[in-house]
Amino acid sequence: MNSATQPLPAAQSSAQRQPGHIEVRKMDFSFSDVNEMDWYRGNPFLTAFIAVLSGTFPPGEQMFIESVRHFKDQVTDPQLLEDIKDFTRQEAHHTNQHKLANEKLEALGWRAQAIERRVEKAIALLNAKRSKRERLAATVCLEHITAIIAEYVLTHPKQMEGMHPSIRNMMVWHAIEEIEHKSVAFDVYMSTGGSRKMLKRIMRAIAVLFPTLTFARTIYLLFAARRMPSWAQFKEGMQMLFGKDGMITSIKAPFKDFYREDFHPEDHDNRELIEKWKKEIAEYQV
Ligand SMILES: [Fe+2]
Ligand SMILES: [Fe+2]
Repeated sequence: MNSATQPLPAAQSSAQRQPGHIEVRKMDFSFSDVNEMDWYRGNPFLTAFIAVLSGTFPPGEQMFIESVRHFKDQVTDPQLLEDIKDFTRQEAHHTNQHKLANEKLEALGWRAQAIERRVEKAIALLNAKRSKRERLAATVCLEHITAIIAEYVLTHPKQMEGMHPSIRNMMVWHAIEEIEHKSVAFDVYMSTGGSRKMLKRIMRAIAVLFPTLTFARTIYLLFAARRMPSWAQFKEGMQMLFGKDGMITSIKAPFKDFYREDFHPEDHDNRELIEKWKKEIAEYQV
């Protein structure tokens, strides 16, 4: 974590959303030039892992939008109401772009659209059993995980080296916008009477389920594509996740902050970080 992302000490934590910081961008990433099957360092494990995330986003983001919408009528802060609109627009654009990417991945042999359908079914099953409040709490938890992964992506550009530029640029754009709207679901949840106790309970379940399912789906995708990584490629993937600068290793500390009694997503101030990266994706904006 660099200095721009240091959390404030608990006693001083009074971070807030900054008005007007959510920018809705319409993008056009050309996926037509993604023709190589293993478009991430020629490594099928790494490629399948990102393909699973891409397959997970469309149904996941629809769930986020709906769970926030259920509470919109209880929100009185006009700025938060504006931010809900922008959050919804950003997530809807993410869904569109990932659906386009997933179409391409499916054509290449990675069953990203099958992942979309599986996640959709899993969410429908969960929704039938959980209250609207619990669904919003799950969104808050997953938005925190997404935001700290986004921070990781933007602070570790080396990890994206060797990824097809169209996919890499989509990831950068998505990361920027996840950081921009990371507090919206949290503020809706807290301002409408949500409890920290429920957030913590649901986060404990998600912390086990999300990585386990993502890993299992990665293995499924490799089998479905009949694409087995070599031992060296598998090791490279593990290094990317659990190595010294690996994703899981690096997000542990910001992840734990979520359990603090006065935690707010803006405690991790990433404004300088996204200012730096915005320029990189400007040329894909339409
Ligand atoms: Fe998103
Ligand atoms: Fe999000």
